[in-house]
Amino acid sequence: MARGDLALVLMAAGKGTRMRSRLPKVLHPVCGRPILMHALELGRELGAVRRVVVVGAGESEVRAAVAGQDVELVRQTEQLGTAHAALQARALLGDHDGPVIVMNGDHPLYRASTFQTLRETWEAKKAGLAILVTDMPNPEGYGRVLRDSSGRVARVVEEHECSDTLRRVREVNLGGYIADARTLFELLASVRNDNAKGEYYITDLVEIALATGRTVETSNASDWLESIGINTRQELARAQALMRERIADQLMLAGVTLMDPETTYVDVDVEIGEDTVLAAGVTIRVGTRIGSGCRIDPGVVIEQSVIGDRVHVKPGCFFEGARVGNGCEIGPNAHLRPGADLRENVRVGNYVEIKNSVLGAGTKADHLSYVGDADVGAGVTIGCGAITVNYDGAKKTRTTIGDRAFIGCNSNLIAPVTIEPEAYVAAGSTITKSVPAGALAVARGQQRVIEGWRKKRFGAGDHE
Ligand code: UD1
Ligand code: CA
Repeated sequence: MARGDLALVLMAAGKGTRMRSRLPKVLHPVCGRPILMHALELGRELGAVRRVVVVGAGESEVRAAVAGQDVELVRQTEQLGTAHAALQARALLGDHDGPVIVMNGDHPLYRASTFQTLRETWEAKKAGLAILVTDMPNPEGYGRVLRDSSGRVARVVEEHECSDTLRRVREVNLGGYIADARTLFELLASVRNDNAKGEYYITDLVEIALATGRTVETSNASDWLESIGINTRQELARAQALMRERIADQLMLAGVTLMDPETTYVDVDVEIGEDTVLAAGVTIRVGTRIGSGCRIDPGVVIEQSVIGDRVHVKPGCFFEGARVGNGCEIGPNAHLRPGADLRENVRVGNYVEIKNSVLGAGTKADHLSYVGDADVGAGVTIGCGAITVNYDGAKKTRTTIGDRAFIGCNSNLIAPVTIEPEAYVAAGSTITKSVPAGALAVARGQQRVIEGWRKKRFGAGDHE
């Protein structure tokens, strides 16, 4: 593309006072991904060769959140305004040979295509500066775009400096700017803070560019709904609702049925296969993969998990960090915790909890069990209420159960212990020693029967 490689500057140093939060504003998640990460992802989609984040308020948290990402950070020690924020990037990008997009860090819904158009406008018109604008039905809170009699952009005026007439203008500045690096930093350096708030406004770039003989173009974001900047929790909720709608649309276009899109919460970075049906009130969190032909019933929450094809998850289940093979049937009300690894056609029933355990193909744990730190083979039956006792108060140890073993109801397997293939554990046993293949282990008190107990205890008469 003409005019060199793209760099991105993301302004994320503001305090976000209006959020009333301890968490830096840009770290609040929208559909599972922090606001800032949405913008960084956008930079990646635009092919930015460098992505610079201006950090300030909440710096250590922001630093931690972007650790491991291919981004550079620059510090704005005092939050003196958006122009001052962008200018801090000069230390890193002063010699950059190509365009720089400067972006507000608080717009999670921006689309890459919108910025692509901004860049193309800037390039095609050989503009000194181009800015992103849109028409908003309710422009409250945004800087208004002031045009001259020939319709060319003349200024951006912040809302609190607007006259009543200007306040009625619906065309607003969206906090996206592009110029080549040299022009950008030259213009930024000449912004002054002689305004009501004593801040350096990046929006002054428009006037300064025009005054220094450059042309300024605007690029219109066609869908104002993508333009919402987040300053308050209300805006956070609105952005989340819009993003949710976007994700739901993508899913439905990809062949997923959503029984009630309005109450289905699917984060970004989730994949769901064709003909999977999500019931009302389902939450699928970031990083989850679900195969095709699955049924996910009401009230299910799944995070960081990988689910195969044709899996039925019944109401009220919670999966975190689990793997579920094809054809499994889970729940209602089952809890799969990290490291739960269910192979094909496993059945896990109500009030069963599985943690850090493999369950081989066709194994069943239908009711009220806890299976933790266990290697369970294929075709095993784990009876109602059976428990692996994996923790002695100091350390965790593993249980091994061989193929086709049968674990009777309400038995305790005290780890470390091995139940070999095809062995039986009698109901109510507390197993502390390994059981050989094909054997039956009974480990419980012998039953005693005391005849005539009622009579001895209460006498012959009416004891009621
Ligand atoms: C800004 C624009 C306004 C536009 C709106 C779009 C200015 C002066 N105004 O207003 O025209 O309509 O965005 O959402 O730019 N930041 C810093 N350092 C600072 C101040 C802010 O890094 O010293 C960052 C913030 O973290 C935020 C972004 O810059 O990500 C925008 O700042 P914010 O205070 O939210 O600007 P708005 O008042 O929304
Ligand atoms: Ca803002």
